[in-house]
Formats: sequence, structure tokens, C-alpha cells
Amino acid sequence: MAAHWHVLGAGAIGCLFATALHRSGCTTTLLLRDSASKSTSSVLVQRSGAITEIQLPVSATGDNGPITHLLVTTKAYDVRGAVAAVAHRLNSDTRLLLLVNGMGLAEALREDYPTLDIYCGTTTEGAYRIAPLHIRHAGTGQTRIGKPGQTEPAPWFRQWSRALDSCVWDANIERALWLKLAINCVINPLTAIHDCHNGDLARRPELTMEVGRLCDEIAAISNAAGYVNAAADLEQAVTGVIADTANNRSSMLQDVQGGRRTEIDYITGYLLAVAGRCGIAAPRNKSLFERVHNIELNY
Ligand code: PAF
Repeated sequence: MAAHWHVLGAGAIGCLFATALHRSGCTTTLLLRDSASKSTSSVLVQRSGAITEIQLPVSATGDNGPITHLLVTTKAYDVRGAVAAVAHRLNSDTRLLLLVNGMGLAEALREDYPTLDIYCGTTTEGAYRIAPLHIRHAGTGQTRIGKPGQTEPAPWFRQWSRALDSCVWDANIERALWLKLAINCVINPLTAIHDCHNGDLARRPELTMEVGRLCDEIAAISNAAGYVNAAADLEQAVTGVIADTANNRSSMLQDVQGGRRTEIDYITGYLLAVAGRCGIAAPRNKSLFERVHNIELNY
């Protein structure tokens, strides 16, 4: 029987995956802080100009029904609070899949809930929130899912590979998460500080030079932390993502433009913590970290 997924974080990625799982035959419920006593909500997904409306069951986080499969797609800084709001609905059989930016949160959740079965994922699907429960699916990407130390896919993974165009089980998910973190450490703060599209990092020579210097610094940290493959391919990977997402505004730039808190603590902040533990100096990343925090202070 298909698993029943509850989705915590009804932003762009949450709505995209909730509707994809629903279309593939899984019961999929959106968890909302306040469901306003509604049993369903309509989610609008815009793709190449066409809009599809999908009715999804909704449940208030404070309700009581047990949750067997929980997908968490909130902002990084909301993860622990959001999971705490549904903790009374979780048990030792619950599977939790964390699909958020940054790193460090799976470890935090494992500490908070030692018996919970926690998986991690990363995606390059391009989805943007237009309005509450209204998203644009701008580009198909790949989703990688795994659990440290688990080479075989989890039983529920088959549904995910059916639901998404490209979804793989990654036996070395930590490496994939680190590479995504490294890419985000370059693109997100630079675009947020310079108020530019991702593609400008390849078009403006002073920014392209800074991309190169940051990649060198992050490669040294990656090597020291044991992510040797990520270090070797980093600049190529970053350049590839910049080219593929040239017309996009990074999530951090969107947060800054919207006057919202950014995820810098979970992206560059995590990198700096690892650099500190490994005894590697990271002055360029430290400077970006401080500059993004200064922008937030001036909202
Ligand atoms: O956070 C983002 O915006 C994205 O992860 C990426 C890859 C930088 C593209 O904009």
C-alpha cells in the first residue's frame, strides 16, 4: 500500500512534491499551522503557462492523527520548531525526509528525536512560490535521497521514483548534500550582496573572479573535511549551476528582497563551523557571512 505522506512546509518545493506524490497515487496531506477547519485546499501549479489545480487534504499541525511519513520542506531555521509542532503525532515508526537548504539539521533532529528514522534529500527542481499555495514549476531537475550508511533504497522510495521525473537513491547522500552546500555557499551570498541574477556571476568579471577565489577556499575546507571529490569538481559544478540557472534569482536574494531572514546560518554558517573544526582559515566566506547578516540587520 502506498505510504501516506504529510508535508510540513507548503512553500514551492513542498507544494511541488506534495502534488507530484498525489498524482502518482499517494495520499498526501499538507500540514498547515491553521487549517481553518478546511479538509482540503487547492494548490495551483503553473508550468509553461498552463495552470493545474489540485485539491489536497490539509491538516492542522495541532491535530491528533499519527504521521507515518513526514516530508519537511520548511526554511532551514524553521525546521526544529515545525517538527516540534507535530512531535505528538510522530512515533518510532515514522519516517522523516528532510529536504531543506543547508546542513546540520538532520543531526539536530536526530538529537531531538533519537528514535525517529531520518532521511535527507537535495533537489535541483526549479520551483517558485507565486502566492500562498500557488507555485511555478520553472525547470525539471534531479532529486537525490538517502540516509547516511544505507546503501539500499528505503521501501517507500519506489513511490518517489514513480512520482518524480528524476529521483535517485544516493548511497553517499552526505557527499551530495555537501556539494549542494558548497554551491550554495558561492551563489547565494554573492547574489544576495550584489543584488544580481545567478548568471551575472559569470557575466561580471569582478564577480567571476570572486567565484573562483571562493571555490578555492571551499575546496580547501572540503578536502580537510574529507569531501575530496567535491573539492576536485567544485568550480566546474558551480559554473554549471550558474549557467543552468542564469536567469534565476537565488533563494537568498529572494529572501533579502522580501525583507525575510536568510538561511545563511545553515549554509555559510555551517561551512564556517566545519572550517573551524578542521583548523582551516575561511576569510572570504566569513566576510560574506558577516555582510549578509549586516543586510538582515538593516531591514
Ligand atoms: O538556493 C538557490 O537559489 C539554489 O539552490 C541555487 C542552486 C543557488 C540556484 O538559484
